[in-house]
Amino acid sequence: MKMRKVLALLAVCAFAVFALAGCGGSQNASSGSGSGAKVLKVGSSIDFAPFEFQDEGQKEYQGFDMDLIRAIGKEMGYEVEIQNLGFDGLIPALQGKNIDVIISGMTINDERKQNVLFSEPYYQSGLTMVVRSDEQGIKTFQDLKGKKVAVQMGTTSAAEVSKIDGVEVKTLNTPADCFMELKAGGVDAVVNDRPVNDYYITKSGATGVKALEEKLTAEDYGIAVGKDNKELQEKINAAFKKIKENGEYDKIFAKWFGEKK
Ligand code: ARG
Repeated sequence: MKMRKVLALLAVCAFAVFALAGCGGSQNASSGSGSGAKVLKVGSSIDFAPFEFQDEGQKEYQGFDMDLIRAIGKEMGYEVEIQNLGFDGLIPALQGKNIDVIISGMTINDERKQNVLFSEPYYQSGLTMVVRSDEQGIKTFQDLKGKKVAVQMGTTSAAEVSKIDGVEVKTLNTPADCFMELKAGGVDAVVNDRPVNDYYITKSGATGVKALEEKLTAEDYGIAVGKDNKELQEKINAAFKKIKENGEYDKIFAKWFGEKK
């Protein structure tokens, strides 16, 4: 019957429209131009206040990196979608194209440059250590010989501490795990990024622990993109330049660190 054929045809068309609509919505930054909202898929290890963290009972990820990448994405005309991944899983996720960029307090270094492209540096950091307040035996990194030290897996802290002779390194999933281990007496020190250690001591009301002044390294943070994604690297650098010029970067910096460094 004719009517049946028309109905069947209509059903096929309707299905095709739905299927197409479904595809358009999730186009990501690496798939180039085209119609529909452009989405920047961002990976971050949300365990690193004040750069990326989540307050209890709050949905939104917050921190310096979160504000920075949202501002950069906005400048580029992309919708920013942030995924929480373990720090040591970030580069593999980028290589597997599950994400387009990493922003995660990630230090720019030569080893990582073999696998990713970095943006211009956006924050000057370095490594310091945290010990218990009553600690007498550890005043400098030299004193770590024969001690137990907690570090976050896959970080520069993990790499640097392993270079110090005679240290027993305990590799844990997050900086919070490291601090917990220190308080519980399972390790003698935590080596981690200076701004995160300082924030932990001063802002999160930690007691019974102190941060030491000495810096083991100086490090710069960068935003990472895929090794084959020069185009995105350039777009990010251009947007970053823009928000440095128009004062947006300074505003975000002041919000999280109080003053311009
Ligand atoms: N800056 C250090 C590194 O790149 C630690 C970064 C850790 N980031 C984080 N979100 N947990 O290895």
